[in-house]
Amino acid sequence: MDLKSLIRDIPDFPKPGIVFRDITTLLNHPQGLRYTIDTLTAKCRDYGLSPDYIVGMESRGFLFGVPLAYQLEAGFIPVRKPGKLPAAVHSIEYDLEYGSDSLEIHQDAVASHHKVLIVDDLIATGGTAKATAGLLEKIGCEVLGFAFIIELIDLGGREKLPDLPIITLIDY
Ligand code: ADE
Repeated sequence: MDLKSLIRDIPDFPKPGIVFRDITTLLNHPQGLRYTIDTLTAKCRDYGLSPDYIVGMESRGFLFGVPLAYQLEAGFIPVRKPGKLPAAVHSIEYDLEYGSDSLEIHQDAVASHHKVLIVDDLIATGGTAKATAGLLEKIGCEVLGFAFIIELIDLGGREKLPDLPIITLIDY
């Protein structure tokens, strides 16, 4: 299936010069959605990845992380922007082009012996995925790898990540 044809390109969103890769049109396509999750699942199996948990980043990482967790018979753990998770959290701060941001995970969601796979819809500069891996490693989890639907190759995100399997389905 030509998954790229199901991604809608929106020029100049959210600001001039950016071509936004919109995955809502993929989610909206029944066969495309099924193919996406089935292919992600198959690639995880090809790499021999059997995580205890999928860790998905707010918010589009949730959309693909939960069905992948279901398929792999894993649990799902959300990583969220500050102030969204209701119970006690671990947090990590990371640098943006201007300033910094932070991410949070529930303290009781994961323990040090757990194996996790990090999932998001898209890897751009890799800042969020790197910070998430850092957060999980600080807790002592074993990060098995990363899975993304889309990779924006020119932004070089994969070079920022640890030397682990990086699964992607579409690149630009
Ligand atoms: N996140 C960062 N860059 C993006 C892009 N071009 N399209 C969609 N999401 C993004």
